Amino acid sequence: MWSLSALLLFLPIVYAAQAPTFVPPSGGPLIPSANLGSKSNTTLPKPTVVPGKQFDRFIQIWIENTDFNTANSSATFRNISSQGILLTSSYAVTHPSEPNYIAAVGGDFWGMHDDAAYHIPSNISTIVDLLEEKNISWASYQEGLPSDGYAGFNFSAPNYLNSSAPNYVYYVRKHNPLTIFDSVAKVPERAALQRSFNDFAADVNASALPQWVFVTPNMVNDAHDTTIDFTSQWLEFWFMPLLSDERFNDNRTLILLTFDETETYTVNNRIFSVLLGGAVPETLRGTEDSTYYTHYSSLSSVQANWGLGSLGRGDTNKTMANVYDFIASQVGYENANVAGDAIPLTNLTGIFPGALNPVAYIPFAAPDLNAVGAGGGAVFKGAGLNTNITVDSLPKPVNLTATNQTVPAAGTAAATSSSPAGSPSGSGSKSAGISLVESALGKAVAVSVAVAILGATAVLF
Ligand SMILES: *[C@@H]1O[C@H](CO)[C@@H](O)[C@H](O)[C@H]1NC(C)=O
Ligand SMILES: *[C@@H]1O[C@H](CO)[C@@H](O)[C@H](O)[C@H]1NC(C)=O
Ligand SMILES: *[C@@H]1O[C@H](CO)[C@@H](O)[C@H](O)[C@H]1NC(C)=O
Ligand SMILES: *[C@@H]1O[C@H](CO)[C@@H](O)[C@H](O)[C@H]1NC(C)=O
Ligand SMILES: *[C@@H]1O[C@H](CO)[C@@H](O)[C@H](O)[C@H]1NC(C)=O
Ligand SMILES: *[C@@H]1O[C@H](CO)[C@@H](O)[C@H](O)[C@H]1NC(C)=O
Ligand SMILES: *[C@@H]1O[C@H](CO)[C@@H](O)[C@H](O)[C@H]1NC(C)=O
Ligand SMILES: *[C@@H]1O[C@H](CO)[C@@H](O)[C@H](O)[C@H]1NC(C)=O
Ligand SMILES: *[C@@H]1O[C@H](CO)[C@@H](O)[C@H](O)[C@H]1NC(C)=O
Ligand SMILES: *[C@@H]1O[C@H](CO)[C@@H](O)[C@H](O)[C@H]1NC(C)=O
Ligand SMILES: *[C@@H]1O[C@H](CO)[C@@H](O)[C@H](O)[C@H]1NC(C)=O
Ligand SMILES: *[C@@H]1O[C@H](CO)[C@@H](O)[C@H](O)[C@H]1NC(C)=O
Repeated sequence: MWSLSALLLFLPIVYAAQAPTFVPPSGGPLIPSANLGSKSNTTLPKPTVVPGKQFDRFIQIWIENTDFNTANSSATFRNISSQGILLTSSYAVTHPSEPNYIAAVGGDFWGMHDDAAYHIPSNISTIVDLLEEKNISWASYQEGLPSDGYAGFNFSAPNYLNSSAPNYVYYVRKHNPLTIFDSVAKVPERAALQRSFNDFAADVNASALPQWVFVTPNMVNDAHDTTIDFTSQWLEFWFMPLLSDERFNDNRTLILLTFDETETYTVNNRIFSVLLGGAVPETLRGTEDSTYYTHYSSLSSVQANWGLGSLGRGDTNKTMANVYDFIASQVGYENANVAGDAIPLTNLTGIFPGALNPVAYIPFAAPDLNAVGAGGGAVFKGAGLNTNITVDSLPKPVNLTATNQTVPAAGTAAATSSSPAGSPSGSGSKSAGISLVESALGKAVAVSVAVAILGATAVLF
């Protein structure tokens, strides 16, 4: 039998072997590849720029499941924050992923506490309604999306990290927020603005990036299935070169790089978020801002910048929707001082009643029509909205699960897989030896021979 010290010496090698190695999905951030999703057959028209007060383009890039200190310990993330404003009191709104994504475009998560296939009814509005009222162009770019406007639950494609492994789920609907809203998914012109990373490359190359942009990297590049080191390498490959490309980042561009939520549920949900881009005043680059922000702040800040209307939900909540300070001070919006014990606990999940919570179900309410958001405009009323259904008029929450029912917005999780045809059989490139599987926590662990050895050592212990 091996001695304990011999085993401990062996362990670092075992752990090192577990980490998946970053492989660029394409030859560069603007070079097409089958790994990026559907082939681009057309670019968006060059947008007619609607000038904002502090920026003319807002790009948000969402990565996954990482605690503040973990990101802040990465040299790459430190480098990125040194180029912009590090938000040191930026919080997700709940757990897990999907409710955070929908909150950032719809101003609420309606009690959702899972990553299931919901379809939010057409009379519930999103930021898209507010942007389109002012003719502000927008698009969402999803790495691995198999066709523009794809409505499936996820999509698997040939594994480019390990060609001898089976197809891999790179695209997931739960990270593509607008497609969860019928007001986008059921309107063909809007649905088609869910675009792949090949479309992203084509649109940037054509200087046709819209004015409001949501970006979701695939499940390995966004750290969901991997590590902060893997994602750091992806950022160095994809993001950092784009920062010096004027077609992406010019002096009127504001970029938000953020995580959806923390990895740890037992701490409050503070995430690493950075504001950067040419629209960040030079004097503020490399500084920290300790104003309290949440995912609703990206809505309120965009509203403030373009003088938009509001959704009359979390985006107009004085506590939860502070406007990015350098914008607030310029547009004359007064932020709330939320610090210390006043910071709401947003690591809580499953306890909020709502139309997407089967154990505490209440119907969707109309927005608060009297709310005044940071943009000063009217609360948007979607087609088919019954404004009589106010929050106060709603019935008490009911437990649908107890009567074997689901919420009306629940859907089924139909997914598609690309055909494995053309997979490079017998290429002999097995050195990576990695395949990824979902763990109970939603992070994946790399399964390799090394893990099998670890299993054996556990038996020895
Ligand atoms: C982030 O890390 C740097 C370098 O270690 C440190 O100086 C800084 O205080 C950290 N920021 C926060 C908000 O913890
Ligand atoms: C950040 O990275 C860029 C390019 O990768 C490099 O040129 C720059 O010197 C780095 N900055 C810092 C502060 O490390
Ligand atoms: C948006 O564009 C349409 C069509 O060109 C035009 O009729 C409308 O006045 C524009 N709205 C605003 C707010 O500019
Ligand atoms: C682009 O491809 C999509 C399918 O992915 C198709 O529906 C659409 O008609 C094509 N558009 C053009 C301009 O070819
Ligand atoms: C911003 O970029 C535009 C277009 O490249 C240029 O004309 C303008 O001088 C720049 N403004 C500043 C303040 O750098
Ligand atoms: C949420 O975070 C707080 C503050 O760190 C902690 O005390 C609490 O236990 C956490 N709640 C849950 C459900 O983990
Ligand atoms: C605003 O958010 C706070 C903190 O989550 C919450 O307590 C409050 O009820 C919200 N206000 C409204 C009007 O929903
Ligand atoms: C939204 O539309 C549905 C279907 O017409 C309707 O049942 C529901 O009451 C509406 N909800 C609101 C808040 O308007
Ligand atoms: C809303 O309430 C008003 C006044 O009670 C009523 O006349 C109207 O029909 C209601 N609208 C809907 C869509 O139920
Ligand atoms: C709802 O009902 C289910 C099934 O009876 C039960 O397991 C669960 O604890 C209930 N939840 C709440 C919040 O009442
Ligand atoms: C609950 O629903 C499931 C699936 O629809 C069904 O198989 C089961 O018989 C139902 N149970 C009761 C008690 O109605
Ligand atoms: C993808 O979708 C299928 C079918 O709904 C589901 O069984 C599977 O768990 C999903 N995988 C991921 C990683 O989302």
